[in-house]
Amino acid sequence: MIDGVDSVDLAKKYGTPLYVFDVTAIRNQIKKFRSAFEQADLKYQISYASKAFAVKAIYQVMKQEDVHIDVVSGGELYTALAAGFPTDKISFHGNNKSFEELEMAVKNHVGVIMLDNFHEIELLSRILKTDDQKIDVMLRLTPGISAHTHKYDQTGQTDSKFGFDVESGQAKEAMKLVLEDERMNLLGIHAHIGSQIFGTQGFVMLAQKMIAIAKDFQKEFDYWPQVINLGGGFGISYNEDDDPITANEFISKIAAELKKNCDNVPEIWIEPGRSLVGPAGYTLYTIGSRKDIPDLTPYVAVDGGMGDNIRPALYQAKYEAVVANKMDQPLVETAHIAGKYCESGDILIDKQALPKTKVGDILAVLDTGAYGYSMAMNYNRNPRPAVVFVENGQDKLVVKRETYQDLISLDCDY
Ligand code: LLP
Repeated sequence: MIDGVDSVDLAKKYGTPLYVFDVTAIRNQIKKFRSAFEQADLKYQISYASKAFAVKAIYQVMKQEDVHIDVVSGGELYTALAAGFPTDKISFHGNNKSFEELEMAVKNHVGVIMLDNFHEIELLSRILKTDDQKIDVMLRLTPGISAHTHKYDQTGQTDSKFGFDVESGQAKEAMKLVLEDERMNLLGIHAHIGSQIFGTQGFVMLAQKMIAIAKDFQKEFDYWPQVINLGGGFGISYNEDDDPITANEFISKIAAELKKNCDNVPEIWIEPGRSLVGPAGYTLYTIGSRKDIPDLTPYVAVDGGMGDNIRPALYQAKYEAVVANKMDQPLVETAHIAGKYCESGDILIDKQALPKTKVGDILAVLDTGAYGYSMAMNYNRNPRPAVVFVENGQDKLVVKRETYQDLISLDCDY
């Protein structure tokens, strides 16, 4: 059951593979972050990092929950605008925003542009002059902190493509330029150290470092940030080895650190992506072929795979699954859960304990809500699955399944 709806019924009604989101779980996670901030007595803002899952319906849920969102491309911005998301609550990130993307952001009056590099300061300055506009900006800094996570998910270390380096003085140079530009209002400073992080240590170090940087800037520029944005990256549990931190643990620790180091703590913004939508997502597949090899683990294949979830192949991410129509049956074997894509690396789960399965059973892979649909692709010309939202016993299609016709809709004859 997913929030009062039988997942086997959903598989029958909408077909598989199918992404299903438990909207109540998303709303509850936002509430947990809110109450943690309130308990810690910090001024705050929660900004959903929508790269984790960016479709109109999720922007509408975020609007209902009155949180901010981050976008990282013209495409995400376009989707949020089409969803009717309030533009003043949008932050625009990215390490190589184009002139057109920045112009689109300015014309639509987005809340904040997260400045990432000198090229962008120059582009934005040009656009603001031409359009005679003012806009809030923040500086994304590279704080020189390495998070303990997958290499591809680290962003805070000095050797990174993101943000202004603090150590070498780039950050100060950027601050000077922005403070001199009367069309840019510097709202504050930002850093994001990585994704799928366990433990509070990296975030506590970051809080300490951001206050130290702010104090240093204050001496030099007589500027105190209205906002310190600590990014996202709070890990979730994909399998029994993962030990995530709760919103309370993380926020109480950073609050203590901030208050210890500063009497005038700015508003604290965070940008959770995975932790808001990851645990709320399920992918339903139908079990098809099976291969048994003497003395080796069998392969049980499903009707999706790396096209709807690239994370196992790309980051060696480990998921867990259940057979939705056999929840009450004993687990009698271990099998590799293979996808249908023409790659040996297309294994969704390396070893999964299963009941006795047969063709047509419904496998539900858990915790697939973040970076699943948003990183989905059409490899082998497989159409991307539909997405269904479930809340309090009701289901609603929010993204239609792609058709073969959709697959060729942009192809031109030659
Ligand atoms: N803020 C910034 C500036 C970010 O770059 C990110 C993620 C977030 C917030 C949200 O991080 P989260 O709370 O979701 O961990 N595709 C990878 C994750 C890439 C994350 C990129 N930036 C994966 O599937 O593990």
